[in-house]
Amino acid sequence: MEKLAINGGKPVRTKPFPRPAGKRFGKEEKKQLKEAIDSGVLFGPGGTKVKEFEKRFAKYYGKKYCVTTNSGTAAIHTALGALKIKPGDEIITSCVTDMGTIAPIFLANAIPVLCDIDEQTYNMDPSKIEQLITPRTRAIIVVHLCGQSCDMDPIRELAKKHSLFLIEDCAQSYMSVYKGKINGTMTDIGCFSLNDCKHISCGEGGILLTDDPEIAKRAALFRDKCYYRDGSSRNPKFMAPNYRMSELQGAVAIAQLGKLKSIIQRRRKLCRALTKMLSNIPGIEPPKEMSCGEHSYFAYFVRVDENTLGVSTQEFSDALSKEGIPQNCQYLDAPIYLYEVFQEKNIHGETSCPYGCISYKARDISYPKGLCPVAERIMKLKLIFNIKEYFTMDDVKDIAEGIKKVTDCFYSKKQGK
Ligand SMILES: Cc1ncc(COP(=O)(O)O)c(C=O)c1O
Repeated sequence: MEKLAINGGKPVRTKPFPRPAGKRFGKEEKKQLKEAIDSGVLFGPGGTKVKEFEKRFAKYYGKKYCVTTNSGTAAIHTALGALKIKPGDEIITSCVTDMGTIAPIFLANAIPVLCDIDEQTYNMDPSKIEQLITPRTRAIIVVHLCGQSCDMDPIRELAKKHSLFLIEDCAQSYMSVYKGKINGTMTDIGCFSLNDCKHISCGEGGILLTDDPEIAKRAALFRDKCYYRDGSSRNPKFMAPNYRMSELQGAVAIAQLGKLKSIIQRRRKLCRALTKMLSNIPGIEPPKEMSCGEHSYFAYFVRVDENTLGVSTQEFSDALSKEGIPQNCQYLDAPIYLYEVFQEKNIHGETSCPYGCISYKARDISYPKGLCPVAERIMKLKLIFNIKEYFTMDDVKDIAEGIKKVTDCFYSKKQGK
């Protein structure tokens, strides 16, 4: 048995994994940026790049309208603004997500109602949604976590039955597929993020997709101080922030969109190969792709069976890091309501809003430990690997070798060998 690097053995990998420099952004982005700069206009509504990106993204996804923003969080807030979500409205969403899904709900002075997740997909469990619906529920935000699509059919049925708006948070799921449909095209509004860790990036940015002209119109106003850029009026009819994308972001986003297909194909190839390499290892569970969909591998989750291996996920992660295999077990390691902002209900300074707002006194909402037991149990058992499109198959083999080595050592020790 090989000695673990954490115990002084030789690490599986000493060479660093490929870095993004020179690989993500290149001559296409520079060309677009140069054109934007040479135009002398960097203001989105006055230039051509943001408009061009919106046109291309809508076409790429087969949707009628695309409205950009300056972040994914802003895109979701804009979606809520476009749907006229009111203070005190309840919005159901996943208990496992980024604050980018939740902050817009609080910004709208609405109330997040959190749903537990499915053990295999880490996404909202559709069978647990209906019990959360009250007369105050206005919308469901589905989060397609880490590239795996939610089970949309039952969620769409529920939304229809209860007349709820449906928003998809696709920040982590560009080009993920569910029953032949692409994430972001199955609901009232699909929202995306272009921040720097996403499949495609322009540093910071957000996108909304819709087929509804009224939603598109109101979203365009909501992200732009409710200014009517067609020249018809400068007389805002409702309060709206400035979430405009700049021409620099638009320029880079155009170039990035041209690379999206190849990025997704490459990640699928590498991650599916890794899953094959990791099959049948005791104590290790690679991600399962839904048979009716296609994962896009924003991140690659590996579940550690602590009982079988006799170590904690943190110990496993530390041992693997020493083997030269980067991953982490801390991001998304617990449902979001365990964050202080929920526990302390510290939302709008010293006020009790949204929970104690005049418009919301319907029921007492709290987020006690145990609220979403599946998420509390499984999220701390997973390691997150970031398998980038610019990794080689040899990089992936090293990852598999590292996992096998660490697993073998712990498993044998647990078996008393
Ligand atoms: C699931 C999810 N939703 C929303 C966001 C918000 O995106 P941004 O960081 O662009 O505001 C993120 C970003 O990390 C995310 O992962």
